[in-house]
Amino acid sequence: MNAKEILSASFTLPCGTEIPNRFIKSAMSENNADRGGKISGRLLKLYETWGEGGTGILISGNVMTDSRALNEKRNIVVEDESDLEGLRKMGELAQAHGSHLWMQINHPGRQAPNWNKETVSASDVQLPMKKMFDKPRPMTDEEVMDQIERYGNTAAIAKKAGWKGVQIHGAHGYLVSQFLSPITNKRTDRWGGSLENRARFPLEIYRNMRAKVGPDFPIGIKINSADFQRGGFTEEESLEVIDLLSAEGIDMIEVSGGTYERAAMMGSTKKKSTQEREAYFADFIVKARKRTSKPLLLTGGFRTFDTMAQAVANDELDFVGMARPYAVYPHLVKEFLEGKRTEANIPAAKTGLKFIDKMGFLEIVYFAEQMKLIGLGKPTDPSISAWKLLFRYVRKSM
Ligand SMILES: Cc1cc2nc3c(=O)[nH]c(=O)nc-3n(C[C@H](O)[C@H](O)[C@H](O)COP(=O)(O)O)c2cc1C
Repeated sequence: MNAKEILSASFTLPCGTEIPNRFIKSAMSENNADRGGKISGRLLKLYETWGEGGTGILISGNVMTDSRALNEKRNIVVEDESDLEGLRKMGELAQAHGSHLWMQINHPGRQAPNWNKETVSASDVQLPMKKMFDKPRPMTDEEVMDQIERYGNTAAIAKKAGWKGVQIHGAHGYLVSQFLSPITNKRTDRWGGSLENRARFPLEIYRNMRAKVGPDFPIGIKINSADFQRGGFTEEESLEVIDLLSAEGIDMIEVSGGTYERAAMMGSTKKKSTQEREAYFADFIVKARKRTSKPLLLTGGFRTFDTMAQAVANDELDFVGMARPYAVYPHLVKEFLEGKRTEANIPAAKTGLKFIDKMGFLEIVYFAEQMKLIGLGKPTDPSISAWKLLFRYVRKSM
């Protein structure tokens, strides 16, 4: 089979849903909702455009379970049915050509910037960036139970709105990952201490969701292979959590890594040689494959279609995740299948000043700008000047 045949083969998830091909757009926070976290015209246009692109699953940017805890001011918030119509419209447009739209569901915990009224987490461990993030208040048992219920409700609303799946955001140092990591979870109750206790939060979220959406609706999780910090969540622990979720019947496990402190998901902690061979977490996925029979999705660094097809052909993974390339080339799967594209490399937005370029925020601004352009119905601007972005960023923050 050639790369095109391998990557365009359909795949049936354990819950019975058939996914049209092996391409997944991984979550990218769009930061483009209307006031109150409602679906905006820009989001509709963005997902309509992505929906024309031939991708098997479009995973939304992280959708918040709780309007009291956002990680960006313009996040989508789904804590009740007040915007069911907006969500329905978004589902229709994104899925008009056969893609499946999944909702990534998240609570930022201690990674909620300090313009939120209050910060809560598993424990009171503050991020080192103290000017931006407050010391969190440990959640009470009642609050933990309330969040589990919220994740379940948000999933049920996604289903009601016609979206075709959900994903728990268990990676990148947000609330679920704060419960999993011994660095951020110092609790001595049933939610902390042993791995069994730390994993209780995601497991209960999964069970609550499953009870609300039923056996036929896909539920996935994005999980860190590790958080890459001394004393943190390790690879072995991640594999054990994968075992636990597999036993529960999870439909897809997406592997990523890192937190706000160690941005491994963007490749920044990886050696140049790892970045060049693509797939930052390729070694871990091989270990995960040996532990679980559940479908695996790997995200981070994939850029050439031959490399992606090889990974699927080698049976290392079932789905290929990409994020940043979709912000620049929204129709990249279609272009690949039509033979118009063989890779999805993206130019780096750099000012040339090391101290600015290594901060990483410019990269987020660059991709946010591309998504904004698509949302406005305009072509993307891959070669946009880093200085222009920096200038706009500074002006906006004043
Ligand atoms: C602008 C931007 C926003 C992101 N937002 C999210 C998010 O909401 N949820 C998530 O799990 N990952 C998020 N990510 C990380 C991506 O899903 C992905 O893991 C990472 O970009 C590596 O994949 P890539 O090399 O294909 O871009 C974001 C990345 C970017 C660039």
